[in-house]
Amino acid sequence: MIREQLQKIREQAAAQIAVMNDTKSLEELRVRMLGKKGELTAILKQMGQLSAEERPVIGQLANDVRASLEADINNKAAALKAAMTEQRLKAEAVDVTMPGKVRRVGTRHPLNIVLDDLKAIFRGMGYTVVDGPEVEETKYVFDMLNTDEGHPAREPSDTFYITENTLLRTQTSSVQIRTMLKEKPPIAIISPGRVYRPDAVDGTHSPIFHQCEGLVIDKNITFGDLKGTLENFAKSLYGNDVKLRFRPHHFPYTEPSAEVDLSCFKCGGKGCPLCKYEGWIEMLGSGVVHPQVLINCGIDPNEYSGFAFGIGLERIAMMRYNIDDMRLLYENDARFLSQF
Ligand code: DAH
Repeated sequence: MIREQLQKIREQAAAQIAVMNDTKSLEELRVRMLGKKGELTAILKQMGQLSAEERPVIGQLANDVRASLEADINNKAAALKAAMTEQRLKAEAVDVTMPGKVRRVGTRHPLNIVLDDLKAIFRGMGYTVVDGPEVEETKYVFDMLNTDEGHPAREPSDTFYITENTLLRTQTSSVQIRTMLKEKPPIAIISPGRVYRPDAVDGTHSPIFHQCEGLVIDKNITFGDLKGTLENFAKSLYGNDVKLRFRPHHFPYTEPSAEVDLSCFKCGGKGCPLCKYEGWIEMLGSGVVHPQVLINCGIDPNEYSGFAFGIGLERIAMMRYNIDDMRLLYENDARFLSQF
């Protein structure tokens, strides 16, 4: 009787294991058959009813059945694990023959190219690059730069006032004052940045544009130092053949003041459409720092002197790359920008 039960268990379990395809049911089967409350154990508990001759024979058989069930279960577990690994490898396979994704790399904006060149040139001459706020106080943009109430540059039609005493800076010259208030001479800085004026947008005007201010304060600085510096700058940017022309001008914060033209680098000064047949292109404003500006900043004009300049960045970029409409610089059209 027990013998038949054992045989039956072995056959049934083997049949069930054969068709199993998940580890969970396999584990359940193992507990059901071989566990402490399992079927095989239950049968073995009946061994006491057997005769002394039968006991070792059935005992041996029970051991065989147990061993064979364990082997079946272990084999099946191994097979299931292998199948799972196989499946995972298939699912996670990478097709190394597939074409990659090409990521387009952007280009530097022409204004940034020009600015980076400018910084490199002036850093090479020992200048430090400093930053200044775009929302600025009138005292830094005008008053301390010797630009009194009533000066046309302060007119609401030429400025974006925020309050009576704050505005979007119309020039980077405000950074001159901030620098002189903070640092003692010798000073040699440039300060590039955005400036704002309520100009209607056209091919050569924009309410937001960029300047780069320069300031040098030290003992015995003269107009000659300004000329030499700007000449070195222009030649570094446009090559040794470029010529500079200093035209007398007026700025409230410099005396004497000059506007500086460069010989047209397209025609070399002969005249062409780029320079409007003048041979020269206006590039910047400059001059020897007015003594009153030094006094305003607590610097003794008897001991120190200096020069300053303000360069239009758009102008330089447009000339250099022969861009005939300023708006192209701000529209972010990739067809335009990818050319640089
Ligand atoms: N701030 C002037 C402008 O916006 C440019 C300029 C002229 C800057 C003379 C200077 C300077 O530092 O000395 O047109």
